[in-house]
Amino acid sequence: MSVRNGVSDGLPGGDLREWRKPNHADRPVRPVAGEVNGRHAISFAADGPSPDQIRTPAEFMVRLRQLKEWTGFTYRELETRTAEIGDHLPRSTLASTLRRDALPRQRFVETLVRACGLDPVPWTRTRTRLAVRLATAAHPAEPPSSPEPRRVPCQLPVGPPGLVGRDRELDRLVRMLATTPVTVVSGPPGAGKSAVGVRAAHMAAHLFPDGQLYAGLRARAPGAEPPAPAEIAGLLLRSLGVPGASVPADAEEAAGALRTVLSGRRVLVLLDDVATAAQVRPLVPVGGRSAAILTSTAALTSLDGSGCVYLDPLSPDEARQMLERLIGAERVRAEPEAARTLADLCGHLPLGLRLAAARLAARPHWPVRALTERMDDERRRLDEFRVDGMELRASLAVSFEHLARSHDEHARLAARVLGLLAGLPPGEMRLAEAAALLDMSQEAADRALERLVDANLVESRGPGSYRVPDLVRLFALERSGGGGNGRDGGGGGHGARHERPHLWQAPEAHT
Ligand SMILES: Nc1ncnc2c1ncn2[C@@H]1O[C@H](COP(=O)(O)OP(=O)(O)OP(=O)(O)O)[C@@H](O)[C@H]1O
Ligand SMILES: [Mg+2]
Repeated sequence: MSVRNGVSDGLPGGDLREWRKPNHADRPVRPVAGEVNGRHAISFAADGPSPDQIRTPAEFMVRLRQLKEWTGFTYRELETRTAEIGDHLPRSTLASTLRRDALPRQRFVETLVRACGLDPVPWTRTRTRLAVRLATAAHPAEPPSSPEPRRVPCQLPVGPPGLVGRDRELDRLVRMLATTPVTVVSGPPGAGKSAVGVRAAHMAAHLFPDGQLYAGLRARAPGAEPPAPAEIAGLLLRSLGVPGASVPADAEEAAGALRTVLSGRRVLVLLDDVATAAQVRPLVPVGGRSAAILTSTAALTSLDGSGCVYLDPLSPDEARQMLERLIGAERVRAEPEAARTLADLCGHLPLGLRLAAARLAARPHWPVRALTERMDDERRRLDEFRVDGMELRASLAVSFEHLARSHDEHARLAARVLGLLAGLPPGEMRLAEAAALLDMSQEAADRALERLVDANLVESRGPGSYRVPDLVRLFALERSGGGGNGRDGGGGGHGARHERPHLWQAPEAHT
């Protein structure tokens, strides 16, 4: 999903992520009089053009052009002045944007008006008013009883044909949707959160007759940033029929326009694979009588109005049923012990089971045991979970990367602690034991472990008790260079795995 500024592309490289508020606080705009190339003196504040009484974007642009004319500045002089106030606008951008009738970006307006020596606030306020009106006028909220036929968006993916288990969770989810504005489906990577979210949305679709929207929010490429709030709001607005050119580029404005369009409607919004609470916070609750389902490995409990349904891995019996469905009951029943072992190796996670089953389905003459034997070698186990571009590593990486690449140093430390934990003998561990083995204070170990629990990378079956699931452990070993196939530049080998860890890369751990 890629959303550019729908109002205007006035600024070069004007991607939303590059938006920054100019810091003019310590840089007062100088009076215009005689400043640039000895131009004549004008007192703008007293009698300059004002944005009052403007009703359309075209009028707004006329007024901006009048402002430029009024100052008498050339584009070259304006360019110099924008650079002086710390937000350089090239003259080509100034000229091409002012020639158009579409609303420019907020930053453009603010910088230009400042460069002309006026207070930008009335201008930016007017621009915001026009942008919101444009977005909503393009698709006004209709009363529920509107006799006009309306195209109802039904964007939900189809989802798997039949889910194994999850009846209790689905039941709870659907009941919550009737009463809770935001419902989060959370759980470990690959637990089936998206599948359950999609199924629940289908089951509850009749409660939302004005449509069901879907947006997949995972980053499009490894290492890429996941979509930002303004991009997500833009996608939803366009899905609701708002023309791209009317979609505000500013996150707050776009979120406001979304709430306006949704007011008076009953729409269900499924935001799938949400990375962090910050990614969706401006957008939810979506408002009115609409509701949102969010799926995420993060708990997202800090979101206003949210309730949570947690997905554990499947039970051993459900995992066997899933294998039976995917590779046939005869094959599973012919090797019950191997099938049980395979389910264990998959951590009873639907994604692992699905990928392992896909391998076997493509090899109808292999016994199940052949795959479990290949998986016996921990160094290549994760490689066995890779089929047709789908990979278990990719799911594990999502949660891990959010920590490892976070701006928060505690999150980054948690990612490094996971690498250290992966080098310890597998199994349940008490906090004091973990702290001693990690050579950390209990307080620091507690903070890192709880962070890992929040990210669903470590299990906690009770206070002070922790376990790194096997597949997470193997992934973290790979990432820390302590094992696996060395694809990430590792070379430590598995031999070193159970030794007392070194605090490589983790100086903060000594707290
Ligand atoms: N209960 C289930 N029964 C049958 N298939 C399932 C079930 N849950 C999930 N699946 C299938 O398992 C695979 C993984 O599920 P899904 O993508 O929903 O997991 P996820 O938790 O959203 O993963 P991620 O952490 O990567 O977002 C999908 O192919 C899905 O169709
Ligand atoms: Mg998912």
